[in-house]
Amino acid sequence: TPPPAFVNAPLKDFSHERVREEFRRSLAAVRSRLGATYLLDIAGVPPQGAELEASRNPARPSEILGQVAVADVDHAERAVRNANRAFPGWRDMPVSARVALCRRAADIMDARRGELAAWQVLETGKNWREADADVAEAVDYLRYYPYRMEQLDGWQPTRCFPGERNHLRYEPRGVAVVIPPWNFPLAILTGMTAAALVAGNTAIVKPATPANLVAHGFKSVLDEAGFPPGVCQLLPGNGATVGRYLVRHRDVHVIAFTGSKTVGLEILREAHTLAPEQRQIKQVVCEMGGKNAIIVDEDADLDEAVAQTLYSAFGYQGQKCSACSRLIAVGRVHDRLVKRLAEALDSYDYGPPEDPAFLFGPMITRDAQQKARSYIEIGRSEGRLHYLGRVPADGFYCPPALFTGIEPRHRLAREEIFGPVLAVMRAPTFEAALTMALESDYALTGGVFSRLPEHLDLARDRYRVGNLYLNRRTTGARVGVQPFGGTRLSGTGIQAGGPDYLKQFLWTRVVSENT
Ligand code: SER
Repeated sequence: TPPPAFVNAPLKDFSHERVREEFRRSLAAVRSRLGATYLLDIAGVPPQGAELEASRNPARPSEILGQVAVADVDHAERAVRNANRAFPGWRDMPVSARVALCRRAADIMDARRGELAAWQVLETGKNWREADADVAEAVDYLRYYPYRMEQLDGWQPTRCFPGERNHLRYEPRGVAVVIPPWNFPLAILTGMTAAALVAGNTAIVKPATPANLVAHGFKSVLDEAGFPPGVCQLLPGNGATVGRYLVRHRDVHVIAFTGSKTVGLEILREAHTLAPEQRQIKQVVCEMGGKNAIIVDEDADLDEAVAQTLYSAFGYQGQKCSACSRLIAVGRVHDRLVKRLAEALDSYDYGPPEDPAFLFGPMITRDAQQKARSYIEIGRSEGRLHYLGRVPADGFYCPPALFTGIEPRHRLAREEIFGPVLAVMRAPTFEAALTMALESDYALTGGVFSRLPEHLDLARDRYRVGNLYLNRRTTGARVGVQPFGGTRLSGTGIQAGGPDYLKQFLWTRVVSENT
Protein backbone atom coordinates (compact mmCIF):
# COMPACT_ATOMS: atom_id res chain seq x y z
CA THR A 1 0.00 0.00 0.00
CA PRO A 2 1.32 3.50 -0.80
CA PRO A 3 2.12 5.74 2.19
CA PRO A 4 -0.81 7.92 3.22
CA ALA A 5 -0.77 11.35 1.61
CA PHE A 6 -0.56 14.16 4.10
CA VAL A 7 -3.87 15.65 5.25
CA ASN A 8 -4.28 18.45 7.82
CA ALA A 9 -6.18 17.62 11.00
CA PRO A 10 -9.48 19.52 10.91
CA LEU A 11 -10.10 22.16 13.57
CA LYS A 12 -12.90 21.72 16.07
CA ASP A 13 -16.04 23.71 15.45
CA PHE A 14 -17.01 25.16 18.80
CA SER A 15 -20.23 26.61 17.40
CA HIS A 16 -21.76 23.19 18.10
CA GLU A 17 -22.95 22.67 21.67
CA ARG A 18 -21.81 19.03 21.54
CA VAL A 19 -18.23 20.12 20.75
CA ARG A 20 -18.33 22.74 23.50
CA GLU A 21 -19.65 20.21 25.98
CA GLU A 22 -16.87 17.81 25.08
CA PHE A 23 -14.25 20.50 25.65
CA ARG A 24 -15.79 21.48 29.00
CA ARG A 25 -15.33 17.87 30.02
CA SER A 26 -11.67 18.00 28.93
CA LEU A 27 -11.14 21.13 31.01
CA ALA A 28 -12.79 19.49 34.01
CA ALA A 29 -10.67 16.36 33.57
CA VAL A 30 -7.48 18.43 33.49
CA ARG A 31 -8.65 20.48 36.47
CA SER A 32 -9.10 17.28 38.46
CA ARG A 33 -5.39 16.55 37.91
CA LEU A 34 -4.01 19.90 39.04
CA GLY A 35 -1.29 20.09 41.64
CA ALA A 36 0.66 16.99 40.61
CA THR A 37 4.45 16.79 40.56
CA TYR A 38 6.25 15.96 37.31
CA LEU A 39 9.62 14.33 37.82
CA LEU A 40 12.65 14.21 35.58
CA ASP A 41 12.84 11.13 33.42
CA ILE A 42 16.50 10.97 32.40
CA ALA A 43 18.26 7.61 32.60
CA GLY A 44 21.02 7.79 35.20
CA VAL A 45 19.43 10.69 37.08
CA PRO A 46 17.59 9.84 40.32
CA PRO A 47 13.97 10.91 39.76
CA GLN A 48 13.74 12.60 43.17
CA GLY A 49 15.91 15.45 44.32
CA ALA A 50 15.77 17.94 41.46
CA GLU A 51 14.53 21.42 42.16
CA LEU A 52 10.79 21.96 41.59
CA GLU A 53 9.28 24.86 39.71
CA ALA A 54 5.60 25.78 40.03
CA SER A 55 3.58 26.21 36.87
CA ARG A 56 0.89 28.87 37.19
CA ASN A 57 -2.31 29.93 35.54
CA PRO A 58 -1.57 33.37 34.00
CA ALA A 59 -5.24 34.32 34.33
CA ARG A 60 -5.09 33.60 38.07
CA PRO A 61 -1.42 33.62 39.10
CA SER A 62 -2.10 32.39 42.64
CA GLU A 63 -3.32 29.11 41.16
CA ILE A 64 -0.54 26.53 40.93
CA LEU A 65 -1.23 23.97 38.21
CA GLY A 66 1.61 21.60 38.93
CA GLN A 67 5.20 21.30 40.09
CA VAL A 68 7.81 20.46 37.50
CA ALA A 69 11.26 19.10 38.33
CA VAL A 70 13.87 21.23 36.58
CA ALA A 71 17.24 19.98 35.46
CA ASP A 72 20.65 21.39 36.29
CA VAL A 73 23.76 21.14 34.14
CA ASP A 74 24.72 17.72 35.54
CA HIS A 75 21.37 16.38 34.43
CA ALA A 76 21.91 18.02 31.05
CA GLU A 77 25.27 16.30 30.73
CA ARG A 78 23.63 12.97 31.48
CA ALA A 79 20.92 13.65 28.91
CA VAL A 80 23.50 14.37 26.21
CA ARG A 81 25.29 11.12 27.00
CA ASN A 82 22.03 9.18 26.82
CA ALA A 83 21.12 10.82 23.53
CA ASN A 84 24.55 10.09 22.12
CA ARG A 85 24.31 6.46 23.16
CA ALA A 86 20.84 6.08 21.65
CA PHE A 87 21.85 7.70 18.36
CA PRO A 88 23.42 4.82 16.37
CA GLY A 89 20.47 2.50 16.97
CA TRP A 90 17.95 5.18 16.05
CA ARG A 91 19.96 6.26 13.01
CA ASP A 92 20.20 2.69 11.73
CA MET A 93 16.54 1.91 12.22
CA PRO A 94 14.67 1.79 8.91
CA VAL A 95 13.02 5.08 8.06
CA SER A 96 9.73 3.20 7.83
CA ALA A 97 10.00 2.30 11.54
CA ARG A 98 10.69 5.89 12.61
CA VAL A 99 7.88 7.07 10.38
CA ALA A 100 5.49 4.54 11.90
CA LEU A 101 6.35 5.68 15.44
CA CYS A 102 5.73 9.33 14.54
CA ARG A 103 2.41 8.43 12.91
CA ARG A 104 1.42 6.47 15.98
CA ALA A 105 2.29 9.51 18.12
CA ALA A 106 0.15 11.66 15.78
CA ASP A 107 -2.84 9.36 16.23
CA ILE A 108 -2.42 9.33 20.02
CA MET A 109 -2.13 13.11 20.09
CA ASP A 110 -5.19 13.43 17.88
CA ALA A 111 -7.14 11.17 20.22
CA ARG A 112 -6.05 13.28 23.21
CA ARG A 113 -6.70 16.63 21.58
CA GLY A 114 -9.18 17.89 24.14
CA GLU A 115 -6.94 17.17 27.09
CA LEU A 116 -3.80 18.61 25.45
CA ALA A 117 -5.67 21.77 24.46
CA ALA A 118 -7.17 22.14 27.93
CA TRP A 119 -3.69 22.21 29.46
CA GLN A 120 -2.83 25.09 27.16
CA VAL A 121 -5.91 27.03 28.17
CA LEU A 122 -4.88 26.74 31.80
CA GLU A 123 -1.11 27.06 31.53
CA THR A 124 -0.61 29.47 28.64
CA GLY A 125 -3.82 31.52 28.57
CA LYS A 126 -4.95 30.42 25.10
CA ASN A 127 -8.60 30.55 24.24
CA TRP A 128 -10.33 27.34 23.18
CA ARG A 129 -9.94 27.86 19.47
CA GLU A 130 -6.30 28.85 19.65
CA ALA A 131 -5.51 25.93 21.93
CA ASP A 132 -7.28 23.45 19.67
CA ALA A 133 -5.55 24.89 16.59
CA ASP A 134 -2.20 24.49 18.31
CA VAL A 135 -2.80 20.82 19.03
CA ALA A 136 -4.07 20.24 15.48
CA GLU A 137 -0.89 21.85 14.14
CA ALA A 138 1.23 19.60 16.35
CA VAL A 139 -0.59 16.56 14.98
CA ASP A 140 0.03 17.88 11.47
CA TYR A 141 3.79 18.08 12.04
CA LEU A 142 3.82 14.50 13.30
CA ARG A 143 2.26 13.48 9.99
CA TYR A 144 3.85 15.93 7.58
CA TYR A 145 7.54 15.35 8.36
CA PRO A 146 7.22 11.54 8.17
CA TYR A 147 5.52 12.01 4.82
CA ARG A 148 8.45 14.16 3.65
CA MET A 149 10.99 11.76 5.12
CA GLU A 150 9.56 8.91 3.09
CA GLN A 151 10.31 10.95 -0.01
CA LEU A 152 13.91 11.46 1.07
CA ASP A 153 14.52 7.85 2.07
CA GLY A 154 16.97 5.49 0.40
CA TRP A 155 19.80 5.77 -2.10
CA GLN A 156 18.83 8.21 -4.80
CA PRO A 157 20.60 8.26 -8.17
CA THR A 158 22.42 11.48 -9.02
CA ARG A 159 23.21 12.65 -12.58
CA CYS A 160 24.16 9.80 -14.84
CA PHE A 161 27.91 9.48 -15.60
CA PRO A 162 29.29 6.81 -17.98
CA GLY A 163 31.08 3.96 -16.26
CA GLU A 164 29.94 4.88 -12.77
CA ARG A 165 27.05 4.37 -10.43
CA ASN A 166 26.44 7.46 -8.28
CA HIS A 167 23.97 7.65 -5.46
CA LEU A 168 23.09 10.12 -2.75
CA ARG A 169 21.51 9.47 0.60
CA TYR A 170 20.20 11.65 3.42
CA GLU A 171 21.70 10.90 6.82
CA PRO A 172 20.80 12.19 10.28
CA ARG A 173 23.32 14.43 12.00
CA GLY A 174 23.37 13.30 15.65
CA VAL A 175 22.08 14.74 18.89
CA ALA A 176 19.59 17.56 18.40
CA VAL A 177 18.68 20.10 21.06
CA VAL A 178 15.19 21.53 20.68
CA ILE A 179 14.42 24.85 22.34
CA PRO A 180 10.81 25.82 21.63
CA PRO A 181 8.82 28.90 22.69
CA TRP A 182 5.81 28.97 25.03
CA ASN A 183 3.44 30.69 22.60
CA PHE A 184 2.71 27.69 20.37
CA PRO A 185 3.60 25.39 23.21
CA LEU A 186 2.73 22.08 21.62
CA ALA A 187 2.84 22.88 17.90
CA ILE A 188 6.32 24.35 17.60
CA LEU A 189 7.79 22.00 20.19
CA THR A 190 6.32 19.03 18.35
CA GLY A 191 7.27 20.36 14.91
CA MET A 192 10.94 20.85 15.68
CA THR A 193 11.15 17.59 17.61
CA ALA A 194 9.27 15.53 15.03
CA ALA A 195 11.59 16.81 12.29
CA ALA A 196 14.67 15.95 14.34
CA LEU A 197 13.40 12.51 15.26
CA VAL A 198 11.95 11.30 11.99
CA ALA A 199 15.18 12.34 10.28
CA GLY A 200 16.99 9.96 12.64
CA ASN A 201 18.50 12.36 15.17
CA THR A 202 18.00 11.87 18.88
CA ALA A 203 16.43 14.84 20.63
CA ILE A 204 16.72 16.67 23.92
CA VAL A 205 13.81 19.05 24.36
CA LYS A 206 14.31 22.00 26.70
CA PRO A 207 10.82 23.47 26.90
CA ALA A 208 9.99 27.09 27.60
CA THR A 209 9.42 27.33 31.35
CA PRO A 210 5.91 28.89 31.21
CA ALA A 211 4.75 25.85 29.19
CA ASN A 212 6.47 23.04 31.10
CA LEU A 213 3.24 21.14 31.70
CA VAL A 214 2.25 21.25 28.05
CA ALA A 215 5.70 19.84 27.28
CA HIS A 216 5.06 17.01 29.72
CA GLY A 217 1.86 16.29 27.80
CA PHE A 218 3.94 15.97 24.65
CA LYS A 219 6.37 13.61 26.33
CA SER A 220 3.54 11.41 27.57
CA VAL A 221 2.33 11.06 23.97
CA LEU A 222 5.77 9.94 22.83
CA ASP A 223 6.02 7.50 25.73
CA GLU A 224 2.63 6.06 24.85
CA ALA A 225 3.73 5.70 21.23
CA GLY A 226 6.73 3.66 22.38
CA PHE A 227 9.79 5.63 21.31
CA PRO A 228 12.94 3.79 22.43
CA PRO A 229 14.71 5.02 25.58
CA GLY A 230 17.06 7.96 25.16
CA VAL A 231 15.72 8.87 21.72
CA CYS A 232 13.71 11.83 22.99
CA GLN A 233 14.33 13.27 26.45
CA LEU A 234 12.47 16.12 28.07
CA LEU A 235 14.71 18.42 30.05
CA PRO A 236 12.85 21.32 31.66
CA GLY A 237 15.34 23.87 32.93
CA ASN A 238 16.61 27.38 32.90
CA GLY A 239 17.61 28.74 29.51
CA ALA A 240 20.59 30.71 30.75
CA THR A 241 22.13 27.67 32.46
CA VAL A 242 20.78 24.39 31.06
CA GLY A 243 19.90 25.79 27.64
CA ARG A 244 23.29 27.41 27.27
CA TYR A 245 25.07 24.26 28.46
CA LEU A 246 23.32 22.21 25.80
CA VAL A 247 24.02 24.75 23.07
CA ARG A 248 27.72 24.82 23.93
CA HIS A 249 28.05 21.05 24.30
CA ARG A 250 30.64 19.45 22.06
CA ASP A 251 28.42 16.43 21.29
CA VAL A 252 25.43 18.40 20.05
CA HIS A 253 24.98 18.44 16.27
CA VAL A 254 21.74 20.30 15.71
CA ILE A 255 20.04 23.10 17.62
CA ALA A 256 16.46 23.88 16.68
CA PHE A 257 15.34 27.10 18.29
CA THR A 258 12.26 29.27 18.02
CA GLY A 259 12.04 32.35 20.19
CA SER A 260 13.31 35.87 20.60
CA LYS A 261 15.92 37.56 18.42
CA THR A 262 18.15 38.22 21.42
CA VAL A 263 18.29 34.57 22.42
CA GLY A 264 18.47 33.34 18.82
CA LEU A 265 21.47 35.50 18.01
CA GLU A 266 23.19 34.38 21.18
CA ILE A 267 22.55 30.73 20.30
CA LEU A 268 24.00 31.30 16.83
CA ARG A 269 27.09 32.90 18.31
CA GLU A 270 27.63 30.21 20.94
CA ALA A 271 26.85 27.30 18.64
CA HIS A 272 29.40 28.52 16.14
CA THR A 273 32.19 28.69 18.70
CA LEU A 274 34.02 25.39 18.70
CA ALA A 275 34.03 23.60 22.07
CA PRO A 276 37.17 21.67 23.04
CA GLU A 277 37.19 18.34 21.20
CA GLN A 278 34.14 19.25 19.16
CA ARG A 279 34.30 17.56 15.78
CA GLN A 280 31.35 18.91 13.87
CA ILE A 281 29.84 22.16 12.76
CA LYS A 282 26.59 22.62 14.60
CA GLN A 283 23.55 23.14 12.46
CA VAL A 284 21.32 25.87 13.89
CA VAL A 285 17.69 26.05 12.85
CA CYS A 286 16.65 29.42 14.12
CA GLU A 287 13.25 31.12 13.99
CA MET A 288 13.00 34.49 15.65
CA GLY A 289 10.65 37.43 15.81
CA GLY A 290 8.69 39.72 13.58
CA LYS A 291 7.48 43.29 13.31
CA ASN A 292 4.79 42.51 10.83
CA ALA A 293 2.79 45.04 8.90
CA ILE A 294 -0.61 44.93 7.28
CA ILE A 295 -1.25 47.45 4.53
CA VAL A 296 -4.83 48.56 4.10
CA ASP A 297 -5.32 50.06 0.69
CA GLU A 298 -7.58 53.01 0.04
CA ASP A 299 -10.29 50.91 -1.59
CA ALA A 300 -10.02 47.86 0.68
CA ASP A 301 -13.05 45.96 1.93
CA LEU A 302 -13.08 47.29 5.48
CA ASP A 303 -15.37 44.58 6.83
CA GLU A 304 -12.65 42.09 6.01
CA ALA A 305 -9.69 44.33 6.82
CA VAL A 306 -10.98 45.26 10.27
CA ALA A 307 -11.97 41.75 11.35
CA GLN A 308 -8.81 40.12 10.08
CA THR A 309 -6.46 42.82 11.37
CA LEU A 310 -8.10 42.65 14.76
CA TYR A 311 -7.47 38.96 14.93
CA SER A 312 -3.94 39.23 13.51
CA ALA A 313 -2.90 41.93 15.96
CA PHE A 314 -4.76 40.96 19.12
CA GLY A 315 -5.29 37.19 18.80
CA TYR A 316 -3.54 35.51 21.75
CA GLN A 317 -2.88 39.05 22.94
CA GLY A 318 -0.39 39.67 20.13
CA GLN A 319 1.96 37.03 21.51
CA LYS A 320 2.81 35.52 18.14
CA CYS A 321 5.85 36.10 15.97
CA SER A 322 3.35 36.22 13.09
CA ALA A 323 1.18 38.89 14.73
CA CYS A 324 0.51 42.20 13.03
CA SER A 325 1.98 45.07 15.02
CA ARG A 326 2.09 47.78 12.36
CA LEU A 327 -0.96 48.83 10.42
CA ILE A 328 -0.26 50.99 7.38
CA ALA A 329 -3.25 52.91 6.13
CA VAL A 330 -3.09 54.19 2.57
CA GLY A 331 -4.44 57.71 1.96
CA ARG A 332 -7.99 58.50 2.99
CA VAL A 333 -8.81 55.13 4.49
CA HIS A 334 -6.94 56.01 7.69
CA ASP A 335 -9.65 57.66 9.77
CA ARG A 336 -12.42 55.21 8.86
CA LEU A 337 -10.13 52.26 9.47
CA VAL A 338 -8.98 53.44 12.88
CA LYS A 339 -12.50 54.29 13.98
CA ARG A 340 -13.89 50.92 12.99
CA LEU A 341 -10.98 49.03 14.48
CA ALA A 342 -11.44 50.79 17.82
CA GLU A 343 -15.17 50.05 17.76
CA ALA A 344 -14.51 46.41 16.97
CA LEU A 345 -11.94 46.13 19.74
CA ASP A 346 -14.31 47.71 22.18
CA SER A 347 -16.89 45.01 21.53
CA TYR A 348 -14.68 42.37 23.17
CA ASP A 349 -13.95 41.74 26.81
CA TYR A 350 -10.77 40.33 28.28
CA GLY A 351 -11.03 37.50 30.80
CA PRO A 352 -9.92 33.99 31.77
CA PRO A 353 -9.81 31.84 28.63
CA GLU A 354 -11.46 28.93 30.41
CA ASP A 355 -14.65 30.86 29.71
CA PRO A 356 -15.29 30.75 25.95
CA ALA A 357 -17.03 34.11 26.12
CA PHE A 358 -13.62 35.76 26.17
CA LEU A 359 -11.77 35.95 22.89
CA PHE A 360 -8.80 37.59 24.62
CA GLY A 361 -6.98 36.57 27.79
CA PRO A 362 -3.89 37.27 29.87
CA MET A 363 -0.25 37.66 28.91
CA ILE A 364 1.94 34.67 29.64
CA THR A 365 3.92 36.07 32.60
CA ARG A 366 4.26 39.18 34.71
CA ASP A 367 7.40 40.12 32.76
CA ALA A 368 5.53 39.88 29.46
CA GLN A 369 2.72 41.95 30.93
CA GLN A 370 5.10 44.61 32.17
CA LYS A 371 6.99 44.74 28.89
CA ALA A 372 3.79 45.22 26.88
CA ARG A 373 2.53 47.84 29.29
CA SER A 374 5.84 49.70 29.08
CA TYR A 375 5.34 49.98 25.31
CA ILE A 376 1.98 51.62 25.94
CA GLU A 377 3.89 54.30 27.84
CA ILE A 378 6.45 54.57 25.02
CA GLY A 379 3.59 54.86 22.54
CA ARG A 380 2.05 57.72 24.49
CA SER A 381 5.26 59.72 24.04
CA GLU A 382 5.66 58.83 20.36
CA GLY A 383 2.14 58.99 18.96
CA ARG A 384 -1.48 59.35 20.02
CA LEU A 385 -3.28 56.73 22.08
CA HIS A 386 -6.48 56.29 20.09
CA TYR A 387 -7.96 53.38 22.03
CA LEU A 388 -7.14 51.57 25.25
CA GLY A 389 -9.20 48.58 26.41
CA ARG A 390 -10.17 47.46 29.88
CA VAL A 391 -8.83 44.32 31.50
CA PRO A 392 -9.37 42.48 34.79
CA ALA A 393 -7.12 43.51 37.67
CA ASP A 394 -6.13 39.99 38.73
CA GLY A 395 -4.01 38.01 36.25
CA PHE A 396 -1.27 39.10 33.87
CA TYR A 397 -3.46 41.22 31.63
CA CYS A 398 -2.40 44.04 29.37
CA PRO A 399 -5.10 46.22 27.83
CA PRO A 400 -5.27 46.29 24.03
CA ALA A 401 -3.92 49.57 22.72
CA LEU A 402 -4.22 51.31 19.37
CA PHE A 403 -1.81 54.15 18.55
CA THR A 404 -2.00 56.56 15.66
CA GLY A 405 0.60 59.05 14.43
CA ILE A 406 3.40 56.50 14.53
CA GLU A 407 6.29 57.01 12.12
CA PRO A 408 8.91 54.53 10.90
CA ARG A 409 11.58 55.99 13.19
CA HIS A 410 9.52 55.37 16.34
CA ARG A 411 10.25 52.47 18.66
CA LEU A 412 6.64 51.38 18.31
CA ALA A 413 7.29 50.90 14.61
CA ARG A 414 10.59 49.07 15.01
CA GLU A 415 10.68 46.91 18.13
CA GLU A 416 8.92 43.63 18.65
CA ILE A 417 6.49 44.09 21.54
CA PHE A 418 4.84 40.67 21.65
CA GLY A 419 1.72 42.19 23.12
CA PRO A 420 -1.65 43.71 22.20
CA VAL A 421 -0.25 47.03 20.99
CA LEU A 422 -0.91 48.11 17.42
CA ALA A 423 0.86 51.05 15.79
CA VAL A 424 -1.03 52.74 12.96
CA MET A 425 0.97 54.56 10.31
CA ARG A 426 -0.10 56.61 7.32
CA ALA A 427 1.20 56.28 3.78
CA PRO A 428 0.26 58.60 0.91
CA THR A 429 0.30 55.85 -1.74
CA PHE A 430 0.34 52.08 -1.95
CA GLU A 431 3.97 52.13 -3.13
CA ALA A 432 4.95 54.26 -0.14
CA ALA A 433 3.13 51.82 2.13
CA LEU A 434 5.13 48.94 0.68
CA THR A 435 8.39 50.77 1.27
CA MET A 436 7.33 51.47 4.84
CA ALA A 437 6.30 47.87 5.44
CA LEU A 438 9.73 46.67 4.36
CA GLU A 439 11.55 49.16 6.57
CA SER A 440 12.25 46.60 9.28
CA ASP A 441 14.99 44.34 10.61
CA TYR A 442 12.49 41.52 10.39
CA ALA A 443 10.79 39.86 7.43
CA LEU A 444 8.36 37.30 8.73
CA THR A 445 4.72 37.91 7.82
CA GLY A 446 3.02 40.70 5.95
CA GLY A 447 -0.51 41.45 4.88
CA VAL A 448 -2.29 43.48 2.24
CA PHE A 449 -5.96 44.32 1.98
CA SER A 450 -6.76 45.70 -1.44
CA ARG A 451 -9.27 45.28 -4.22
CA LEU A 452 -6.83 46.35 -6.93
CA PRO A 453 -5.24 43.39 -8.73
CA GLU A 454 -2.24 45.54 -9.72
CA HIS A 455 -1.55 46.37 -6.08
CA LEU A 456 -1.82 42.73 -5.08
CA ASP A 457 0.60 41.87 -7.90
CA LEU A 458 2.98 44.59 -6.77
CA ALA A 459 2.92 43.16 -3.27
CA ARG A 460 3.48 39.65 -4.61
CA ASP A 461 6.59 40.91 -6.42
CA ARG A 462 8.09 43.25 -3.88
CA TYR A 463 6.76 42.54 -0.42
CA ARG A 464 9.63 40.21 0.51
CA VAL A 465 8.59 38.54 3.75
CA GLY A 466 8.48 34.85 4.54
CA ASN A 467 4.69 34.72 4.56
CA LEU A 468 2.69 37.28 2.65
CA TYR A 469 -1.07 37.14 3.09
CA LEU A 470 -3.34 38.90 0.63
CA ASN A 471 -6.80 39.83 1.88
CA ARG A 472 -6.62 37.50 4.89
CA ARG A 473 -5.21 37.46 8.37
CA THR A 474 -1.47 37.11 8.90
CA THR A 475 -1.51 34.39 11.55
CA GLY A 476 -2.49 30.76 11.61
CA ALA A 477 -0.27 29.21 8.95
CA ARG A 478 -1.22 25.62 8.18
CA VAL A 479 1.34 22.86 7.93
CA GLY A 480 2.09 22.00 4.31
CA VAL A 481 -0.30 24.72 3.09
CA GLN A 482 1.56 27.82 4.26
CA PRO A 483 5.11 26.71 5.08
CA PHE A 484 6.01 29.19 7.79
CA GLY A 485 9.10 31.25 8.56
CA GLY A 486 10.94 34.41 7.68
CA THR A 487 14.21 35.89 6.60
CA ARG A 488 16.46 38.79 7.68
CA LEU A 489 16.47 38.80 11.50
CA SER A 490 13.30 36.71 11.60
CA GLY A 491 14.99 33.47 10.72
CA THR A 492 17.05 31.39 8.42
CA GLY A 493 14.52 31.44 5.61
CA ILE A 494 13.71 27.74 5.44
CA GLN A 495 10.14 27.29 6.48
CA ALA A 496 8.60 24.96 9.03
CA GLY A 497 5.90 22.72 7.60
CA GLY A 498 7.42 23.15 4.15
CA PRO A 499 9.21 20.84 1.75
CA ASP A 500 12.76 21.90 2.66
CA TYR A 501 12.57 22.03 6.45
CA LEU A 502 13.58 18.45 7.12
CA LYS A 503 16.80 18.78 5.15
CA GLN A 504 18.20 21.02 7.86
CA PHE A 505 18.25 18.01 10.15
CA LEU A 506 20.10 15.87 7.61
CA TRP A 507 23.34 15.82 5.69
CA THR A 508 23.99 14.13 2.37
CA ARG A 509 26.41 11.36 1.60
CA VAL A 510 27.36 10.31 -1.92
CA VAL A 511 28.76 6.95 -2.99
CA SER A 512 30.37 6.58 -6.43
CA GLU A 513 31.19 3.13 -7.78
CA ASN A 514 33.34 2.52 -10.83
CA THR A 515 31.46 -0.06 -12.88
N1 SER B 1 2.74 29.48 12.76
C1 SER B 1 2.19 30.51 13.57
C2 SER B 1 1.28 31.39 12.80
O1 SER B 1 1.23 31.30 11.61
C3 SER B 1 3.26 31.35 14.20
O2 SER B 1 4.26 30.58 14.78
O3 SER B 1 0.60 32.19 13.37
